[in-house]
Amino acid sequence: GIIAQRPPERPLRAAGPAAQENSESILPAHGRTTISMPAAAGRCGAILCIGGIFMIRVSPSILAADFADLGRDIGRIKQAGAEYVHIDVMDGLFVPNISIGLPVLSCIRKVTDLTLDVHLMIDRPVRYAERFCQAGADIVTVHVEADTQENTLEALRIIRACGKKPAICVKPKTPAEAVLPFIGLVDLILVMTVEPGFGGQSFMADMMPKVQAIRAYIDEKNPGCELEVDGGVNAQTAKLCTAAGANVLVAGSAFFKAEDKAAFVQAVK
Ligand code: DX5
Ligand code: ZN
Repeated sequence: GIIAQRPPERPLRAAGPAAQENSESILPAHGRTTISMPAAAGRCGAILCIGGIFMIRVSPSILAADFADLGRDIGRIKQAGAEYVHIDVMDGLFVPNISIGLPVLSCIRKVTDLTLDVHLMIDRPVRYAERFCQAGADIVTVHVEADTQENTLEALRIIRACGKKPAICVKPKTPAEAVLPFIGLVDLILVMTVEPGFGGQSFMADMMPKVQAIRAYIDEKNPGCELEVDGGVNAQTAKLCTAAGANVLVAGSAFFKAEDKAAFVQAVK
């Protein structure tokens, strides 16, 4: 339909006292945070679609794909109606596993127009930020635990300068407040719902208060920012995530194990 596939480049919420006075609450959707928007924007669905920030998007993780048949599996992601492709990059240092890197990303870029959502689980990602952008990433996510604050800020700056979307990620033991130094500079925040490193782990429901806390920060400080969850997301746990305020759902094993992938994508939304 007319639904935009991408979030806004800038927050939709109008600033200033006039906009506040005229605002009305238009979307108590999915039991999540209600956001005020200018009354002038109306109640028209198209306005929401232009914003797109309330859309639930699915980002299947190719960590659970068959790497010997990756092109076929990327095709299945597109066919199922998912919007993003989640690409887990691991260096064997930041996490105790090694997955895929730049050459594989370049190959994926050539065969799909889907948004490539690259999750860097690597030590000091500032060293590689530009090369992942050049290799075709649309979103580049760095862990706040992977370097100093100064270097993380530099990585985000490089990603933005490359015309891509900078994003940060927090591991389960990292508190919500850790996103605050970066929140105005990112287009997406990723909350891990498992310890990073492996697919197929159990969902940590005790991360939901953190998702809620970060949703509140986003609504206040950067409403155009997306909120993503990663790890153990399936048709059941997805509901907890969207109820807590997440709008992008990574799913690896649940997606690739699903017999009917289009039905899975619909079910988690
Ligand atoms: C874990 C990765 C995840 C993983 C999720 O380190 O970041 O993206 O692929 O896999 P599932 O959905 O199977 O938990
Ligand atoms: Zn991931």
